Amino acid sequence: MASLVRDVLLLIFTELNDLDSLHSCSLVNKNWCQVAVPLLWKSFSDTYENPYNYKRESRKKFYNVIAHFLPNNPKDLLPQNNILLPLNKFPKEPMFKYMDFLTSLSTVWIEDMAKLLINDEVGSKYKERILEFEIYKLIFNRCNNAKNFHWYTKKRLYRYPNAKNFFSKLRSLEISPRGITSKTLIKLGKICQNLTNLEIHMCDEDTPGLASFIKIQKKLQSLCLEFDEENDEVEEQYILLGNIIEKKASTLKKVIIQPIITLISPIFVLSLKNIQYLALSNEYGELYENVELCEWKRYLNMASFPDLQYLETTCLPSSITCLIIEKSGRNILEINIHSPLESESDNRNLIEVISIYCPKLIKLTVNVDYKNLGEMSKIFSSCKQLEKLYLTTNVNILPNGDELLRVMSEASPMVLQEFKFGDKWNFSLKGLESFFETWKSKNRPPIKFSHNWDELVYSWTDDHDKMVEKYMKV
Ligand SMILES: *[C@@H]1O[C@H](CO)[C@@H](O)[C@H](O)[C@H]1NC(C)=O
Ligand SMILES: *[C@@H]1O[C@H](CO)[C@@H](O)[C@H](O)[C@H]1NC(C)=O
Repeated sequence: MASLVRDVLLLIFTELNDLDSLHSCSLVNKNWCQVAVPLLWKSFSDTYENPYNYKRESRKKFYNVIAHFLPNNPKDLLPQNNILLPLNKFPKEPMFKYMDFLTSLSTVWIEDMAKLLINDEVGSKYKERILEFEIYKLIFNRCNNAKNFHWYTKKRLYRYPNAKNFFSKLRSLEISPRGITSKTLIKLGKICQNLTNLEIHMCDEDTPGLASFIKIQKKLQSLCLEFDEENDEVEEQYILLGNIIEKKASTLKKVIIQPIITLISPIFVLSLKNIQYLALSNEYGELYENVELCEWKRYLNMASFPDLQYLETTCLPSSITCLIIEKSGRNILEINIHSPLESESDNRNLIEVISIYCPKLIKLTVNVDYKNLGEMSKIFSSCKQLEKLYLTTNVNILPNGDELLRVMSEASPMVLQEFKFGDKWNFSLKGLESFFETWKSKNRPPIKFSHNWDELVYSWTDDHDKMVEKYMKV
């Protein structure tokens, strides 16, 4: 049988992004296996944040492979405590250095591994603790390519053997101050200073440890701050955190703050000179323009974001989104605006601002008031690179979408290849027909025309369904 050289196999396998196919490939022959297994493990490791997405049996197999690398001499902790692993031993030495393939690690799966591999009832908690300790030791010692770590445990991992070696090489860390105390963060900061990405989830306390941990990072480029929306007690701003973010802002390229941006003072926006990716959400904040949001406007007005390429806002007044766009350097490639707070005239203004300030825009998600449908032609004629468009609208006025279709078929740029719409759009059969006829008569490349299935409720009529199906392949 003719065989493909490894480089070619690698190229092909890299394109397959589902684990099942990759797994099948690994079973073909030894050559294929040697190319597929490292990829399989890497992609597994990258998507393994939540092990419970996988079946118990698959998880057990995965953990069993790792168990081959645990210290297992008669004097080691595991045999001493009658923990006999692996459950199924390979007949030969493992073919790969599996530990090198693990690039992302999570305390969640380490706990899961200990639970699944310790089967017996009596004394199992004690055994689980020992096994977990051994797994951490193994990982800190042998996972030389680990770049990302998700820390959701109260264990003081910085004290474990080889922790320094492991944490000093990490690029990305995800933590929750709920599980990791202020003191632990201060100690961790001594051995972990090379992060480029830090994600803080369910943040419910403004602690000195968290602030100093951010401060001590030497290479930080990306910060995600997610406040705990269930914590009703905190209404005051996080002063320590705000101050540190302000100090770090000038080196940050990516910032995500959610779901209550008003918990942080907006002063830091003045220093976001290098920001490329900005996502702000006030989903659980006050849903009207309060004092804090006015403060945000005041600072945004003085800021500038020359390199901004990606902007996402959720539940923010459109006037704030407009300000950010106006302060950008006309380099924005993607804008996603969800659930904006806006009147019809705010909406008109937003559409206009996008058309003036975003000549390079490729993807746009925006709400359009039915009275502003005509305005969309401005976006179509100025954003010549626009490829993907997703529109929502607020009121069900019947049928509200025909005018949009007319404008779109008349003015949209040739490269437009995908249109998605939210629930409240309603197109008449005639409107759709004439849209697709025009599209075809202009010899435009096919467009992917679809309802946004992510929005839960939907209300198609059969006619619309058939219509779309019929014209989908124009
Ligand atoms: C950071 O990385 C450098 C090498 O790039 C290394 O020498 C240093 O020990 C690391 N420091 C910490 C504390 O993470
Ligand atoms: C769409 O508009 C038509 C009137 O043209 C109306 O009969 C129909 O119920 C509307 N559909 C939805 C889902 O609102």
